[in-house]
Amino acid sequence: MKNFTYYTPTKILFGKGSESETTKLLREFGATRVLLHYGEGSAVRSGLLARIEEMLKEAGIAYVTLGGVKPNPRLSLVHRGIALCKKEQVDFILAIGGGSVIDSAKAIGYGVANPGEVWDFYERTRMPVACLPVGCILTIAAAGSEMSDSSVITNEEEGKKRGCHSDFSRCKFAVLNPELTCTLPAYQTASGCVDILMHTMERYFNQEENMELTDGLSEHLMRTVIKCAKLLKDDPNNYNARAEVMWAGSLSHNGLTGCGTGSGDWAAHQLEHELSAMFDVAHGAGLAAIWGSFARYVCGDCLPRFVRFASQVHQIGIQDPQAAAESREAQKALALAGIEAMEDFYRSIGMPVSIHELGIDLTDGQIDLLAERCSYGQTRTIGAMKKLAKDDMANIYRAAR
Ligand code: NZQ
Ligand code: ZN
Repeated sequence: MKNFTYYTPTKILFGKGSESETTKLLREFGATRVLLHYGEGSAVRSGLLARIEEMLKEAGIAYVTLGGVKPNPRLSLVHRGIALCKKEQVDFILAIGGGSVIDSAKAIGYGVANPGEVWDFYERTRMPVACLPVGCILTIAAAGSEMSDSSVITNEEEGKKRGCHSDFSRCKFAVLNPELTCTLPAYQTASGCVDILMHTMERYFNQEENMELTDGLSEHLMRTVIKCAKLLKDDPNNYNARAEVMWAGSLSHNGLTGCGTGSGDWAAHQLEHELSAMFDVAHGAGLAAIWGSFARYVCGDCLPRFVRFASQVHQIGIQDPQAAAESREAQKALALAGIEAMEDFYRSIGMPVSIHELGIDLTDGQIDLLAERCSYGQTRTIGAMKKLAKDDMANIYRAAR
């Protein structure tokens, strides 16, 4: 077992009607002038934004609003948010939405609390030393930003999507009412489930020693999300399934499923971020489109984990684990069966398993550009199971085409 640090300072309010506690939470964290930050319209259509505004007025908490956050949130709106917060002397940002809104709120928080250009933190030429406090009312279970230390922003002028990680940006509180996710289109629900699974899979597939407790938690989380994603396909108002998925989304990316097992692989995420930067696809759907090809490319270097994934998550080969362990060929066959089972699951919830199924037909030139960007101009490798250089990245994009 590896040493680890586990830090999850976010206060969680979970369950039906929990957003009614929002002003109490804002007061608890010292908010006096709030930016209400939201997306392209779902929070307006559902009436959630109006309800929150009403609560703030009743509580006498001053606020300004900034909507319009797009999925794969843009740097230009972050700049607008920073200027607005400075002008209005905002001291707390309340994100109402999903990962994109929360990430945009965190970026605005960095921009207000630190001098200079906020994009530097995403290019990692400087590190932030503070962040305006951020809280959230989550409306989609997916990215896990409500409890993570990350924020992912797209610089639309440069065609780059980059993440910034620091504890300063962790949400002070997160209101998680699963009912708020019932208005999601089926595609977004499914895409969110893929992302939740991937946040645990990125940590689960590693070359380190393992921790039995963490592996068990991870496997149960994956089985639960797979089961609930299938339930939600036919029964989108199933509260318990919504609730399981929502809590899994937070636990999957707050560090719990990485305790004792190292820092994870994260290559699939890096490959996907270039795809969504170039083609603006939903992050979870992009992950589903790439993962099978990626997994087949690297599984030979990490067979024991893929065999365990097949047996513990997809119940393949558990009848005779001894026989499964006997030869490398048998292990490889089990690993591939586990990967196929995962792709079958993705198909069953309407997710793509190739880039073509995402609606994109990649040219050779685009593959080269994606790999060039993902390797930061051939200055880095990605992945822990297998170190992937630019050529490997291109091979994976080509196989996923
Ligand atoms: O903009 P609105 O109108 O609100 O619509 C959104 C958006 O179109 C819609 N939506 C959200 N809640 C809804 C709803 N529609 C109906 N009813 C509701 N209750 O769903 C769409 C997707 O929203 P978005 O916030 O983009 O989804 P998600 O939470 O998947 O966030 C994706 C972003 O998070 C980043 C991704 O790269 C992507 O940019 N990630 C952030 C991470 C982090 N900060 O820790 C980690 C992840 O790996 C990921 O990279
Ligand atoms: Zn993700």
